[in-house]
Amino acid sequence: MSKIITPLKLKQMKESQKSIVMVTAYDYTSARLIDETDIELVLVGDSLNMVMLGQPNTLSVTMDEMLHHTKAVKRGISRSMVIGDMPFLSYQVSPEAALVNAGRFVQEAGAYGVKLEGGSPVAQTIRQIVNAGIPVMGHLGFTPQAVNQLGGAFFQGKTAEQGTRLLEEALRLEDAGVFALVLELVPLEVAAVITKRLQIPVIGIGSGASCDGQVLVFHDLLGLNRDFQPKHNKVFADVGAVIKDGLHNYVSEVREGHFPTIDHTKRMATVEYQNFLQQLEQIKG
Ligand code: KIV
Repeated sequence: MSKIITPLKLKQMKESQKSIVMVTAYDYTSARLIDETDIELVLVGDSLNMVMLGQPNTLSVTMDEMLHHTKAVKRGISRSMVIGDMPFLSYQVSPEAALVNAGRFVQEAGAYGVKLEGGSPVAQTIRQIVNAGIPVMGHLGFTPQAVNQLGGAFFQGKTAEQGTRLLEEALRLEDAGVFALVLELVPLEVAAVITKRLQIPVIGIGSGASCDGQVLVFHDLLGLNRDFQPKHNKVFADVGAVIKDGLHNYVSEVREGHFPTIDHTKRMATVEYQNFLQQLEQIKG
């Protein structure tokens, strides 16, 4: 079986109940680290607007910014599937504009495919992008680009009616051709039913262990997010604390004269140094 991750490989993982792992990435250095693991999916999420650019939500990130970061991530990834997250208003205005923007992720940034948020209102757009040969990942439940409409990062599908509607929307996206679906902040009972009813892999975030896979934001799972800790997150390594220690150590060694030492620089050859001293005598001032 090919080592490169494809939609077929992900489907086989679902069928054999092997959990799929997805993580976000926004730059070359973290992509290189991810590339040393066997993570299947790397999402260049529009969450970069918060964790990389310090904005309060995902709404203001642009196509150009998303492409810039996707290119950097792609340079560091050799095996995982790199997915570009289509930013707010890059696919909602018209299916034609959506196709052009999806194409830019593939053509300019080297992404395998794209992810976009929403159900029925974007089903036709998804069909058009898929028909052009670009794999699309769906995203339902809490959809961050609708944060203002939803009133905050709240669980979606909490009532029987809403849960049923979410399942119907998921089936519609599958029918439109998405190769996988992200379910964000959906009660675990609803997520379990959607995962069972869909043929395609369902990747959960805050949606319980029954999903076919999980996704977390790189900065959240590694303790790098100093602003806020989402309830659905687990810090698997407090890299933020390690970085802080490292910075404190750097500051004190520079201030106390312990860094740099002779090992961190280079001496001139003796003869060059002698010549240098002689030449200095001829320079006034
Ligand atoms: O932008 C993002 O990070 C996402 C994931 C949380 C799924 O959409």
